[in-house]
Amino acid sequence: PATSLQDIVAHAKEYGFVFPSSEIYDGLQAVYDYGQNGVELKNNLKNIWWKAMTQLNDNIVGIDAAIFMHPLTWKASGHVDGFSDPMIDNKDSKKRYRADQLLEGKAEQYAADGQPEKAQALLNEMGRLLGDENLEGVRELIIAEGIKCQVSGTANWTEVRQFNLMFSTQVGSVAEDSNLIYLRPETAQGIFVNFLNVQKSGRMKIPFGIAQIGKAFRNEIVARQFTFRMREFEQMEMQFFVRPGTEMEWYEKWRDTRLKFHQAVGLPAAKLKFHDHEKLAFYANAAVDIEYQFPFGFREMEGIHSRTNHDLKSHQEFSKKKQQYFDNDLDENGKPFGNYIPYVVETSVGADRLFLAVFCNAFTKETVGEGDAQKERTVLKLHPALAPFKAAIFPLVKKDGLPEKAEEIVKALRGEFRVFYEERDAIGKRYTRQDLIGTPFCIAVDYQTLEDDTVTIRHRDSMEQERVHISELKAKIGYAVSE
Ligand code: GAP
Repeated sequence: PATSLQDIVAHAKEYGFVFPSSEIYDGLQAVYDYGQNGVELKNNLKNIWWKAMTQLNDNIVGIDAAIFMHPLTWKASGHVDGFSDPMIDNKDSKKRYRADQLLEGKAEQYAADGQPEKAQALLNEMGRLLGDENLEGVRELIIAEGIKCQVSGTANWTEVRQFNLMFSTQVGSVAEDSNLIYLRPETAQGIFVNFLNVQKSGRMKIPFGIAQIGKAFRNEIVARQFTFRMREFEQMEMQFFVRPGTEMEWYEKWRDTRLKFHQAVGLPAAKLKFHDHEKLAFYANAAVDIEYQFPFGFREMEGIHSRTNHDLKSHQEFSKKKQQYFDNDLDENGKPFGNYIPYVVETSVGADRLFLAVFCNAFTKETVGEGDAQKERTVLKLHPALAPFKAAIFPLVKKDGLPEKAEEIVKALRGEFRVFYEERDAIGKRYTRQDLIGTPFCIAVDYQTLEDDTVTIRHRDSMEQERVHISELKAKIGYAVSE
């Protein structure tokens, strides 16, 4: 049977991966806390991304910009005026919806009922109305399509309003408009405003990139689907600055590089696909999403956008500071390319969405064993590099020097890998607990270990056991983690 999102949410909570925020107060919608295992898995993902970007490329460096930025940043980026979703309320239930999602839901219904043309026509009409900012038209379309509120069952809709997704607050103690400040809705702008700082201080030559991992905040109207759509989340973004005219080359390159990354962290090719944007933002000249097949369908996990020089040019206008680069490479006529505002290819992935993809993919319910020994088990088949613990070390019994011997192994491995030690309960139970959190290796210390320094390694996925010398453990675990 297919895994449901409910199973995923329950497992994530029960085994210390993800908890609802402030749960004792009944939680806060669309905000989540990572638990003791979740933080390890998420950190592993972030570290792998960071390394793939900054360590394995000699022309990409990282920064860590502040969440708060000068308010003009968001004027320049277009977020103050344009970063909004069309919202509609049902007058009876007071439930709030995203108008575009109501229409998309209806289109999905048409498609499911074998009427794909009708579905497409509806989406086209919606796109046209939203493009023209004809919000009254959007409302009329919702009513004409007979869309009802899921709670009250009525079609008593308010007008459609644009709802800005940025959270704002005040700096200082006086509440004046001039003190209004936003929580960043994307990390990218912290990179753009530091473009020249990094370029000059690092003597960077184009093409080069700046990478960043950090929190972003969006007041999503409808926040659902666990860590897929959150109000506080984390982005891993990289802006790659290139010479105008070369951006398509780099766009293609990053598109392929990023797909390979997702496969390298264990997501199967069959569950990943590109989704080209037919309708581009006005500043972009190409954009693609990498989608993953979540339990609720293929959805965007990462965006790769060719953003032209839109952002830097706009920051130049608003800040009145030149955002130019002098390119002393020679063109085909032997003249330096000279001054220009670089073009940008962006890769942007949500750490929480990647976490969810990896978690869903690893979550496995299977039947193991044969005959009477047959049983169901749940196991997290995480890539060893991502697993919260790389190995668990178990003395078979709690006496005769076995715990002491096991502690020696823990000490030897601890410096290199995060390992877990446990001596309680039958060994089968201990294996099961490690399966549930995705530990790839369980190492059992028994009486034979005291004689010849060999241990049993039990492999998580195959459940096979092998006898190895203690001196081989580091290399074996290390190989699996780095593969
Ligand atoms: N700088 C470009 C940018 O922010 P985006 O498509 O709005 O583009 C990029 O966001 C990525 O950030 C998405 O592909 C997704 O993985 C993640 N993301 C966006 N909104 C999110 C949310 N509400 N919750 C979790 N992740 C989100």
